[in-house]
Order: sequence, then C-alpha cells, then structure tokens
Amino acid sequence: VELGDLNTLHVPAVARYYQEVADAEALQAALGWAEAKGLPVQILGGGSNLVFDGDFPGLVVRIAVRGRSWEQAAQQAATLVLGAGENWHEAVLYAAGAGYRGIENLALIPGTAGAAPVQNIGAYGVELCDTLESLTALDRRSGELVTLTNADCRFAYRDSLFKQNPGLYVILEVRLRLARDKPLALGYGDLEAYLGQVEPAELTAMAVAEAVMAIRRRKLPDPEMIPNAGSFFKNPVVPAAQFDELQASHPDIVGYPQSEGVKLAAAWLIDRCGWKGYRNARVGVHNRQALVLINHSGGSGRDILALAATIRDSVRDQFGVVLEMEPGIVR
Ligand code: EPU
Repeated sequence: VELGDLNTLHVPAVARYYQEVADAEALQAALGWAEAKGLPVQILGGGSNLVFDGDFPGLVVRIAVRGRSWEQAAQQAATLVLGAGENWHEAVLYAAGAGYRGIENLALIPGTAGAAPVQNIGAYGVELCDTLESLTALDRRSGELVTLTNADCRFAYRDSLFKQNPGLYVILEVRLRLARDKPLALGYGDLEAYLGQVEPAELTAMAVAEAVMAIRRRKLPDPEMIPNAGSFFKNPVVPAAQFDELQASHPDIVGYPQSEGVKLAAAWLIDRCGWKGYRNARVGVHNRQALVLINHSGGSGRDILALAATIRDSVRDQFGVVLEMEPGIVR
C-alpha cells in the first residue's frame, strides 16, 4: 500500500501490509497476525508527525476508532471522550461549539485525537496535558487494555511515556476534562495581540479557536496545500548561563525562562542561519515560519531528513545548540 497520501509531508513510501482498525478487537487481531508472521508494526494516526525514510517492511496499522461523547457532566464541567481516530481539529470545534473550554487554543493542529498525547500537542500557551484526564490504550506487552491517568502519561514539553517508549502502547480513546467556566488562556503574545481589542468577558471558546485559526493560517502552511509536518524541531532548553552568553553576542535572541533554564525559539535560530524560505529542487523551509520544513515537489523522506540534518549542523556551528527533531522517523 502506498503511504504518500497517509502522511502530511506526502513523502512516498510503500507499506508491505496495511490495515485500518475500528476497535480494540480489530487492533488485537492485526497485531497478533503481524506477530505470528514476525513483522514489524507501525501505528499510524493522521500521519502529521512522522517521516517515512523509505518503504516500511512490515504492517502499518491505521487507527480508525471513531466516537465522540460526553461523560460525567456536572453543572459547569464535563469529560469529552474521543475515539483515537477522531480528527483533532474537528473535536476542538465540537467542544468549543458546545461552550466547553480547555482545548480551543489547540485548533487547527493536524492529526488525530489518539496521536495528540504522544507528543503532548501544544500551542498558544496550552498543552494537551492541561486537560487530559485519562486514556485507554492497548499495552502490547500484556495484550490487555489499560487506563492511564494524566500522571501515568509522564507528560512534558512535546514529550510523554508514549514518545519515550515507542511501540509499547496503542492509544484507543482519550478523555478530556473541559469546563464552561475555565479561564481562557489568552497570554501568548500572538493571541494577546490578535484579541487585544475584545473585552475578555465577551470572549467565548469559539472566538478563541477562531483567533488561533486565523493566526495559524497567517504563519503556518496548510498541509493539504503545501505538504509539511508542522514544527520540525523542538524549541531547545539551554542552561541560563549559556543563554546569557548567547544573548551577549545576539541581543535580539528569543528565549523564554523555564524552571530548568531558558527555552530558545528554534525558529529564530534557524531563521538567523539564513534558512527561512530556502528551497532546493524538492524540499525547503517555509518562508513565514523557519521551523517548518516543506515538501515542495516530490521530495522523499530522505530529502527531508537530509535538509533537517544540514539545518541542525548549521545551527550547532553558529550557536552551539543542538536541535532535536520533533517528528518520529519510520524506517
Ligand atoms: N521566529 C523567528 N523566525 C521565524 C518564526 C519565528 O525568528 O521564522 C521567532 C518569532 O519572532 C517568535 C519566536 O520565534 O518570537 C516563536 O515563534 P512562534 O510564536 O511562531 O512559535 P514557535 O516557538 O516557533 C511553537 C510550537 C508551534 C506552535 C507555536 C504557537 C514548538 C516546536 N512549536 O512554535 O507548534 O503552534 O509555538 O504556540 O513548540 C507544531 O508543533 O507543529 C507547532 C506548529
């Protein structure tokens, strides 16, 4: 099966075997079949955070578990239950449309609900871990379904138990605790500037989702039009002393203080190395956000990874900071 249309970078790759699964039983059957044949397995959601480095010699399982429902609804709060295969952005609009707050800042993030916990998706001052209550996953060691709480998932910036242990769990359902009266998160620079004129009391979850959509459309390429995988590198955290040194030679460097150091804007570092808008015959760097790599015309996973390596080396040589890739590599 050709995977080009199943990854948002649209890099060509062939899976030896491919199966879509709509529930836990179908997943267990597919995994059992692959195990009996001794084949490697790759789980696929929306394909927006991975790079296929060539063909895949085993079974690709696409999680197509559907379902959206509400649980434990109280006066102001409720739990939104999402099948792992639900489209993330549609779920955001569904929640915001019902007046529930908590994930509106995460509008327009490509991918599925089940993939969201893997990299702990985040944008405009909110991360998935701020609302994720628990999730159901298949534990591949025991073959059993398990419930993992927020704490079990060991969330950190673009990181989780699932990212640390690829292949151990397959997420089937996520539960998000949302509320009508939760304060809106309006502090992120771009969002604050965009909504500045509006009285906070007049804002709804949907208004915030719409603002985020407008901001993202201004800066980030739509993967449907221009194949990409969102931010290609994480924003690196450096010790405060290293930040002070960098700032002495680059007074306009962008950094945000954290408890463990200073988080640098990887986009700024890449931009400063002159990569923004770069393109070769097949792949390049977005001209409005230097953190986004683009497949302009028929590039392969190898082309994308080669460009990423060149960018990483140039940032390391110029700033002494090593960027870490965000998407996973499948080979
Ligand atoms: N900047 C540049 N050059 C650029 C782009 C940005 O110098 O080409 C500077 C900006 O001036 C700004 C800073 O870099 O001061 C940060 O830029 P931005 O606000 O666009 O956010 P980011 O740190 O580059 C992160 C997330 C995005 C998320 C935005 C908004 C990561 C790896 N990326 O990007 O997530 O949408 O914040 O919250 O943390 C994604 O993960 O795919 C993604 C798009």
